[in-house]
Amino acid sequence: MGETKKRREPKNALVLMGSPRPKGATAALVDCFVTQWHDQMRPEDPVQIIPAYEAALKPCIHCGYCKHTQGCTYDDFIPIDRAFQDADLLVVASPVFCLGFPAPLKAILDRTQQYYEAKFSLGIQKPVKRPKYALFLVTFGSSDSRGAAMMEEQLRLVFHLLNARLEHTIMARNTDTLPLDRKGLEDACQGVLQDFKTKMNATNRG
Ligand SMILES: Cc1cc2nc3c(=O)[nH]c(=O)nc-3n(C[C@H](O)[C@H](O)[C@H](O)COP(=O)(O)O)c2cc1C
Repeated sequence: MGETKKRREPKNALVLMGSPRPKGATAALVDCFVTQWHDQMRPEDPVQIIPAYEAALKPCIHCGYCKHTQGCTYDDFIPIDRAFQDADLLVVASPVFCLGFPAPLKAILDRTQQYYEAKFSLGIQKPVKRPKYALFLVTFGSSDSRGAAMMEEQLRLVFHLLNARLEHTIMARNTDTLPLDRKGLEDACQGVLQDFKTKMNATNRG
């Protein structure tokens, strides 16, 4: 039987924020998460939030640099890499745009191709060393959850490279027509964090 590795208690939560609107539905959902993170886990520690539209990363140009040298030909990913390396819990928060991610967040996800090449071309087993839990927060205007499901699939691919395991997705649907159920979303975030705690305790006991 393989030995189960102990997990340290998550201290550093990182949110990749995909919405351009600081007062939109996604921001409200992130706010529910941050409130619960402080209530349940780390009252003192700030959550690092990277707004994808402000980070405004260049899109991957498939130049092949990362196939031969670890890293990227563009240096704008360096702070994001540092944040990925330090995070214990990774949250991707996004609205659905045309059944997918808004372009600036998609650019960040595509730039993780450098971890794929680090692993499969350069033989670096874990380009992101620290294992982490991951959570997907998604909002969409309609009741059609196909976009959210497709985005979840994309994230599973990327999370694998980030040494992250997607444990939960929280959806807020009908945001264009109905008011946000803030209480319901806070309860969902609370449940997710409780589950992380239970899983961690079980791993650390085993
Ligand atoms: C460019 C664009 C594309 C969108 N595409 C979809 C879509 O495919 N499916 C859907 O249900 N809602 C779609 N929406 C609605 C948004 O997902 C919804 O309003 C979301 O909650 C906005 O999040 P925000 O308030 O954080 O900006 C779209 C909105 C925009 C602006």
